[in-house]
Amino acid sequence: MSKILIDIRNRVISCVNCSLSKSRTNAVPGIGNEKSDVIFVGEAPGRNEDLQGKPFVGTAGQILSEALEFAGFTRDQVYITNVVKCRPPNNRQPNTEERDACRSFLSEELKIIKPKIICILGNTAYSSLLDGNSITKNRGKLVKNNDQLYFVTVHPAAIIYNPALRQVLKDDFVLLAQTLDKLRKGLDVEISK
Ligand code: URA
Repeated sequence: MSKILIDIRNRVISCVNCSLSKSRTNAVPGIGNEKSDVIFVGEAPGRNEDLQGKPFVGTAGQILSEALEFAGFTRDQVYITNVVKCRPPNNRQPNTEERDACRSFLSEELKIIKPKIICILGNTAYSSLLDGNSITKNRGKLVKNNDQLYFVTVHPAAIIYNPALRQVLKDDFVLLAQTLDKLRKGLDVEISK
């Protein structure tokens, strides 16, 4: 891991920028391949992530891994992180203050890794990164903002409540993999307006 990513990781682990630092067991820095062309961004750690200090290791993580494998990715190949690095109590959504307190960590991760595509997992990442209310209009699509490409899909935890979304996530990841492949080859990709 590069020095700068280790430095971010250490600052996340010791962060006391918001009150979530008082209730967390562990802060959860991003994990994975810093040379990845794609970064997956979730909402915030859940219970298992808080206990282990790693992102997406609980039920939502298993669903994420399954969909990644379906599309030909391995977890080691990609970089996985969250908008907010500490677990909000009772798994509530992180509030504006908590997102703002954590914002610089994600910005730094993105600046260092410079992914071709940022894959947005669900509404919290969507509103934090693209300022949108609901992913519905752009789900399964590639969006460009300030010269950065984003691919928008459902949060893996949504599948726990709506099993029909399992195949949606898998198919979206296949499309994401195909899009990355085209970008690597310098081919045109379809960008949603
Ligand atoms: N949900 C998230 O958004 N992130 C995790 O790391 C785990 C569950």
